[in-house]
Amino acid sequence: MPATILDGKALAKQIQAETKESVAKFITQQQVTPTLAAVLVGDDPASQVYVRNKERACGRAGIDSQLHRMPASSTTDELLAKVESLNQDSSVHGILVQLPLPDGIDSRKILDAVSPDKDVDAFHPHNVGLISQGRPKFLPCTPHGIVQMLARHQISTSGKRVVVLGRSDIVGKPMAMMLSGHGCGVGSDVANATVTLCHSRTQNLAELTAEADVLIAAIGQPKFVTADMVKPGATVIDVGINRTDDGLVGDVDFDAVLPVAGHLTPVPGGVGPLTVTMLLENTLMAARIQTGCEALLSA
Ligand code: GUN
Repeated sequence: MPATILDGKALAKQIQAETKESVAKFITQQQVTPTLAAVLVGDDPASQVYVRNKERACGRAGIDSQLHRMPASSTTDELLAKVESLNQDSSVHGILVQLPLPDGIDSRKILDAVSPDKDVDAFHPHNVGLISQGRPKFLPCTPHGIVQMLARHQISTSGKRVVVLGRSDIVGKPMAMMLSGHGCGVGSDVANATVTLCHSRTQNLAELTAEADVLIAAIGQPKFVTADMVKPGATVIDVGINRTDDGLVGDVDFDAVLPVAGHLTPVPGGVGPLTVTMLLENTLMAARIQTGCEALLSA
C-alpha cells in the first residue's frame, strides 16, 4: 500500500482558522492588533515570494504586517539601525529579517540584534538556549510546523528512532533538540525520541536512515532520499524546496519513496504551508508577551 500523503496545505488552513479566532479574541480583549514587521534586503526573487506569502497569511489571520524594504547595497550598520528602531517601536510585536541576507552583511550580528521578545523566527541565541533547555518562548517556524503535522496525524515519536538530515540552525538543529526533549507544546508523544542528527560528514548514512521510524530531510539536495534509505512504513518529512529545471523538488525522491513509506509529505504542499502558519502563531505569541498576557494562551 502506498504511503498516506500528509497534506500540509489542508492542515495549514485548519490551523490558520484557529489562529484567526485566537487573534480576534486577543484584539477584543487587548485592543491591540498583533503586528509583524518583515525586513527584506535586496531583491532575491525567492525571498520576495516568501515575504509576500507571509504578508498575505497575516492579512487572512487578522494580523497587521509591515514590509521594510532595503537595498542590496545596505550596510550591516544600516540594517542594525533598522532592527533597533523596530525593537523600540511598541506597535511592532514580531520582527522577521528574511534570509539569506546579501553578501557583505553580517547576518549573525543582525539576528543577534533582534529583541528576543520579538524574535518570531526563534533565531536569537537566547531563544535557542531556551529551546535547548525545554522551556521555549518561541519555536522556530518550520520545526514547529513539523511537530504540528506529526501531532495532528497522531504520529508518535516517543521512544522511536528519528533521523534528521541536515544540521542547519533554522531546521535540523532545533528539530533534533525539540524531538529529543520531553515535549514541545503538543504533548509528550511528539518528543522523547532517540534522535540522530546527520550531516555531510556522516558515515554510512543510508544505514542510519533505513532504521528511522521518522525521517526528516532538510539538506537542500533534490531527491537525495531514495527508496533504499527508507524503512518500510516510516514517516518521511520532506523540508526541501529545491528549484530545478523540473520545477520545485523536495529532498526526497517522492515517486520512489511513496510505495515504501507509511506517511510522506509532498513538495510543494507539505511542510511549506505550515512554516508560514506557525509564523502567525509566533506573532500572536509575541503580542501576548509584550502585552503581558501570556496566560491567555490557555484560555
Ligand atoms: N529564509 C528561509 N527560511 C527562512 C525562515 O524561516 N525565516 C527567515 N527569516 N528567513 C528564511
